[in-house]
Amino acid sequence: MKVLLTGGAGFMGSNMVRYLLNKRQDIELVNVDKLTYAGNLDNLKDVTGHPHYSFVKADIADREAMERVFKKFHPDVVINYAAETHVDRSISRPFDFAMTDVIGTLTLLESSRASGVTKFVQISTDEVYGSIEDGEWNESTPFDPSSPYSASKASGDHLVHAYWKTYGFPGIVTHSCNFFGPYQYPEKLIPLFITNLLEKKKIPVYGDGAQVREWIFVSDHCAAIESILDRGVAGESYNIGTGNRITNLELTKKLLATLDATDDSIEYVKDRPGHDRRYALDATKLKSTLGWKPIVSIDDGLRSTVQWYRDHEAWWHKIKSGEYLAYYKEQYHG
Ligand code: NAD
Ligand code: DAU
Repeated sequence: MKVLLTGGAGFMGSNMVRYLLNKRQDIELVNVDKLTYAGNLDNLKDVTGHPHYSFVKADIADREAMERVFKKFHPDVVINYAAETHVDRSISRPFDFAMTDVIGTLTLLESSRASGVTKFVQISTDEVYGSIEDGEWNESTPFDPSSPYSASKASGDHLVHAYWKTYGFPGIVTHSCNFFGPYQYPEKLIPLFITNLLEKKKIPVYGDGAQVREWIFVSDHCAAIESILDRGVAGESYNIGTGNRITNLELTKKLLATLDATDDSIEYVKDRPGHDRRYALDATKLKSTLGWKPIVSIDDGLRSTVQWYRDHEAWWHKIKSGEYLAYYKEQYHG
């Protein structure tokens, strides 16, 4: 099976490239990535040179570039991880998000349709549903996004469904909870807090820290996407959730304990505008129809994630000493 995977130099994309190449002999994979600030070829050092792997630096919103890639590679399947992903950045740079998450998705759909792709898996987010006080979202819950990021992802997801209804194009949309694990860019809560604590710096908790997020470890997400790749039904959506829900403050305390730090490291900072209060996914459909289930607990996942960041200081130090540091200072310290 020829797989075109986009965004494979980012956090979850690179974990999936590694997962597929290690696990599946039947796959030939091309990774298409623009290498934005979040794309990092250091994430893929161990697969470079693999006989079933190739890399193309390209923008998914560039029609000519996509036509060239599809003509050359003729993929059977497309998995679209490429996106602008950080909610805070979407508040200050919304156009970047619309360009990649909406126009990029559309461009990829159009090239995929013209090329006769037999399955298109859109990697999307629970954030398209908005915020939920009680209960859980299922796949029929209407979208109600809060940020320019989630609104852009919701638009991309609507386009995938529209291509199914209009052209019978075999798109599938996944809505996942928050990922965590190795290679996550240190702007997201878990890697930012781990690396700040390793550097003996403060950790910025937004608002009161009582927001609830649901967490999935990288290997569980990779297995969920593999089940959809093999058995997912065209035109459908699947929630990918674990039930591992926790407030940001509870999560922060777990990290403090794992890293032998105290509450003194916490700095309460201004809240994120439009901050969603609670996310909660009902993942019954994926579990009952495709047989997937998550196996990594939040505590085990956090322990191995902390260990990975301890062991890969050069990886994150390079990132934090450059572009990200300037961005972070501007956002939170004027
Ligand atoms: P990331 O920010 O770590 O990486 C994104 C990758 O996409 C980078 O390699 C970047 O270079 C590439 N990219 C960005 N714009 C591009 C473009 N125009 N053309 C080609 N490549 C481009 O992302 P992540 O956190 O691993 O998320 C991957 C996907 O999963 C995204 O679609 C995101 O919306 C979705 N998602 C993320 C989470 C999460 O918790 N991080 C949860 C649910 C869903
Ligand atoms: O729910 C899935 C989404 O999870 C993905 O679609 C997004 O791409 C991904 O970035 C993530 O979004 P969040 O906004 O939930 O992740 P983030 O790590 O930015 O923040 C997690 C929570 O922690 C959120 O409530 C905001 C809060 N937070 C975050 C940062 C970076 C803080 O309190 N302090 C921080 O410094």
